[in-house]
Amino acid sequence: MDLRNKSFGKPDDKRLSPILQLAGRAALEAGKVVRDLYGKPHDIRRKGNIDLVTEADTAAEVVILDILKASSIQADFLAEESSGLGSFAIPQGPTWVIDPLDGTTNFAHGFPWFGVSIGYMEKGKPMAGVIYCPMQDELFSAAAGCGAWLNNDPIKVSEADALGISLMATGFPYTIQEDAEAVMAALKAVLTKCQGVRRAGAAALDLAYVACGRLDGFWEIQLKPWDTAAGQIILEEAGGKLTDFKGKGYSPFVQELLATNSLIHAELVEVLGRFSVDEK
Ligand code: IPD
Ligand code: CA
Ligand code: CA
Repeated sequence: MDLRNKSFGKPDDKRLSPILQLAGRAALEAGKVVRDLYGKPHDIRRKGNIDLVTEADTAAEVVILDILKASSIQADFLAEESSGLGSFAIPQGPTWVIDPLDGTTNFAHGFPWFGVSIGYMEKGKPMAGVIYCPMQDELFSAAAGCGAWLNNDPIKVSEADALGISLMATGFPYTIQEDAEAVMAALKAVLTKCQGVRRAGAAALDLAYVACGRLDGFWEIQLKPWDTAAGQIILEEAGGKLTDFKGKGYSPFVQELLATNSLIHAELVEVLGRFSVDEK
């Protein structure tokens, strides 16, 4: 694929438009790196018990940082492979929030479902973001107040207005060995009330899929800012809603996420509220 010919969302905002174009270019280049390494033998290390990192995570992050740093846009960086794990202060200045390879476990096992996620935040809020799925060649993008796109086309959330007709997604955190009981209880509570629950293994793509109406909702605990910064703005711009399990305002620095097409949100708060960290 010739990346120079790939076009995507062009927001009608003079300030955010170049930021989004730059993020899109970086995501496409990183996606190419990841796609080229897919299916080849990997150099796999462990960051934790079940948390892996491969040569593709680091190579993609280098490509993204090189492209963003070479531009005239002044911003800090919060990038998964170079910022370390742990908790972070909410950045107030312009900040790129980067997951170079979301779905590393899938990638390492040759399961073709992963993405590149780049969010741009100001005053602690995502203002622009892109999520690229290299195996499907799909680029999701959005800028605050301008809408959301899948490649060149505007996207919006689904019209499912009840959990009983909804297709949901979730994820299992790397802390699953400690959190299994609560995670499985929440899964049972939702699974027994909806049409199905998918666990595909890339949180950023889960959010992008809610944004374009392929899924109706998504929830997970213990996500990191780079998993959700781009997904938050893409979903909000597509008409979706993000909160914690109790319905309180979400930011990528919050420990639990409920993300929906907005129509089924209240019903899910009823189901998931009792699993909130606030209830512990
Ligand atoms: C992970 C994926 C997965 C989710 C985990 C994330 P990574 O990101 O998004 O779907 O369940 O919580 O940490 O480690 O593949 O970038
Ligand atoms: Ca991730
Ligand atoms: Ca990652």
